[in-house]
Amino acid sequence: MKSINLGILGMGTVASGLISIIEFNNTKIVGNIDKQLVISKVLVKDISKKRSVNLPADTYTTDAYEIINNKDIQIIVELIGGINPAYEYIRNALNNKKHVVTANKALLATHGEELEQLAHINGVRLMYEASVGGGIPIINTITENLSANEFEHIAGIINGTTNYILTQMTENGLEYEQAVKEAQRLGFAEADPSSDVDGDDAAYKIAILSSIAFDQRISVSDIPKEGITKISKEDIIYAKELGYNIKLLASASKSNNEIELRVHPAFVPSDHPLSTVKNEFNAVFLKGNAVGEIMLYGKGAGSLPTGSAVLNDIVSIVKNESRKYAESINADKYKIVNRAYKKYYIRFEVIDKPGVLARIASVFGKNNISLDSVVQRQKNGNNTAPLVFITHDIERKNIDNALKEISNFDCVIQIASIIVVEDF
Ligand code: NDP
Ligand code: HSE
Repeated sequence: MKSINLGILGMGTVASGLISIIEFNNTKIVGNIDKQLVISKVLVKDISKKRSVNLPADTYTTDAYEIINNKDIQIIVELIGGINPAYEYIRNALNNKKHVVTANKALLATHGEELEQLAHINGVRLMYEASVGGGIPIINTITENLSANEFEHIAGIINGTTNYILTQMTENGLEYEQAVKEAQRLGFAEADPSSDVDGDDAAYKIAILSSIAFDQRISVSDIPKEGITKISKEDIIYAKELGYNIKLLASASKSNNEIELRVHPAFVPSDHPLSTVKNEFNAVFLKGNAVGEIMLYGKGAGSLPTGSAVLNDIVSIVKNESRKYAESINADKYKIVNRAYKKYYIRFEVIDKPGVLARIASVFGKNNISLDSVVQRQKNGNNTAPLVFITHDIERKNIDNALKEISNFDCVIQIASIIVVEDF
């Protein structure tokens, strides 16, 4: 039987999962591709580190070019993460006519277009199913299974760490800092959780998904982003009372010739399927003009789920399944807009005295902001009270103009939160 030689860059969480699956599902894989997958060489940083997988010691190297320039290796799997040196390694691998599989969303969101073109020029494949949604086959679903659709809307919970934190705040009453510590203890959040909690990770992923769904290269800089660091327990409680759950959503919508993208915390109706996605799970909700609404749900990270997506790309290359290339991606087919025409939840802390509600409401009226509901609670001990407004759909700039004026009122202690309310 013929062999396919793999060179793997990195032997951490995802690469270990990949090796384990190749071992325990070997019969199934060989039956599928009629070839044996052989791990020829593995790049690591620290060759003396004890590994959870059992490979011969001479498989490991600290010299990437022992893999990239190896004539016997057909597929290179990049699992070191980060932009550099992964970018240089992938470029050189493609120029050496090696197929490349990667899970590196930061790199793809930054240099994806160039790397796809390089793959095309060299007649090889660049595949990246594991870069979004871990084990969820979302990229293949968009590019292959639903390729007959024009996509109108994508909304995803595509960061497991923030979904875990928000779920713990909602279901177990944890404060934000406690929930972050718990996510770190369980290995979801890194020691520095900023890429997850500030929304960068979700922005990389929605840039990748929207580029392939809308056939237009979307840059991360096109995506307004807001993380979850300002979400408080009070907001979680109000959301629940009003019939919502707060989720970090990454969304992309296309209408006429415009695309609007965003990563932001949002009130999601508690009966919407995305509200049922809890803890570290991910889900992507798609609307295509033929298939209608569809939602994919599963583990967005982890050794085996992510390894499964990487292995699927390898199998696809070996089976030589066709895939569109970067040349079909149009740089400026659609105009990218940032209107944020949505409903908003706005929570104020105000002095509890007559006329405050009327003053605030009159500024909203002046800025064309129509109110859906108002909730005024009992005052806090210090003569202040929370005041919550839900608006009807309005552009964010109207909200910002109104809040600029309201923030100068001496009766307003603080504008505590502004969160989008999604009614789908
Ligand atoms: P890990 O940190 O667990 O592993 C990284 C591996 O790469 C380690 O083996 C490390 O070597 C090696 N490495 C890192 N930098 C270098 C370098 N400069 N030269 C040589 N070797 C290097 O990463 P993960 O497995 O978690 O992630 C890999 C990729 O997959 C990333 O792009 C990540 O974003 C993506 N991803 C990860 C998911 C997950 O659940 N973890 C989910 C989806 C995507 P050593 O062991 O010697 O230190
Ligand atoms: N940090 C990511 C998450 C891991 O929390 O979803 C996988 O991309």
